[in-house]
Amino acid sequence: MEHKIALLPGDGIGPEIVNEAVKVLDATAQKHGHRFDYTQALVGAAAIDATGDPYPAATHEICEKADAILFGAIGDPRYDNDPTARVRPEQGLLRMRKALGLFANLRPVQIFEPLIDRSPLRREVVEGTDFLCLRELTGGIYFGEHTREGDTARDVCTYTRPEVERIVRMAFELAAKRRKLLTLVDKANVLETSRLWRETAQQIAPEFPEVTIEYMFVDNAAMQIVTRPARFDVMVTENMFGDILTDEASVIGGSLGMLPSASVGERHALFEPIHGSYPQAASKNIANPMATILSAAMMLDHLGLPAEAADIRRAVGDALVAGVVTEDLVEKNGRAASTSEVGSYICSKI
Ligand code: IPM
Ligand code: MG
Repeated sequence: MEHKIALLPGDGIGPEIVNEAVKVLDATAQKHGHRFDYTQALVGAAAIDATGDPYPAATHEICEKADAILFGAIGDPRYDNDPTARVRPEQGLLRMRKALGLFANLRPVQIFEPLIDRSPLRREVVEGTDFLCLRELTGGIYFGEHTREGDTARDVCTYTRPEVERIVRMAFELAAKRRKLLTLVDKANVLETSRLWRETAQQIAPEFPEVTIEYMFVDNAAMQIVTRPARFDVMVTENMFGDILTDEASVIGGSLGMLPSASVGERHALFEPIHGSYPQAASKNIANPMATILSAAMMLDHLGLPAEAADIRRAVGDALVAGVVTEDLVEKNGRAASTSEVGSYICSKI
């Protein structure tokens, strides 16, 4: 079968890691007799440099027409320390999420056995961790009004019932297919938006009698993610809490360089590693491509190719066992493989 893929490498290490994911996708296509038809588009600082716009109309059009989007990273130090910059690379990502209606961000937190001892947490705490964080992605404080009047600044957090309903319902559906425990993370003891989330979840809960729902304040959740990560199954939360908690959760497994994600809506789906653009490593062929390769596996699941996706995950596991890993994962005295060596090794195991 033929699938149209939009490739958005973006900034920093984005182009290198997306390149490795494409190699792996092509190896998979060859084995299973598929064809991936790629169209590349600009986003982020790379797009600002070329067009002045971090999410140009031409990029949006390519994304709209694609069956799926594979995205690298966004961000550039030239903009990070300049609070007066009017155009920022990150605006491209946020506009893209909104324009494509990608309201749900799925971030699976899984442990790879060969990496357990690299975790900042003790082995006995980490073992058995396997949860899915579902982050709302197109609402809340990220998309409220951001204003400044004199010495007063304001960022408004708004949620509507339909916005909460669609993501909470998706969370229930995912939990029903897993271990059937759903944790809604909020700050309902302080925030009105959180009370709307809780009320909405309580109304939906009777539709899913097989799923147990629990409610947890975000500060408590931040603590339990590092003390008892294995207790969670599916976690659902609003945009900013999800941003913060998923960075925290991502290192449980030993490296931020391993975590894939999917951002999905009713009509479009985008797949990206959760790490950023890592500008210090850009163009050095040293960055870990595994999170992007695992994001490509999530993309294949989405395209209805689960056997192909499983092949990729197994091949990544083979690379970990063989120690063919980049410097972020290399053992003491071990030799770090380059980005492209890791990609090629994974291809050879497909
Ligand atoms: C993420 C990132 C983005 C976010 C930034 C780059 C705007 O941190 O995808 O988690 O905050 O959503
Ligand atoms: Mg983030």
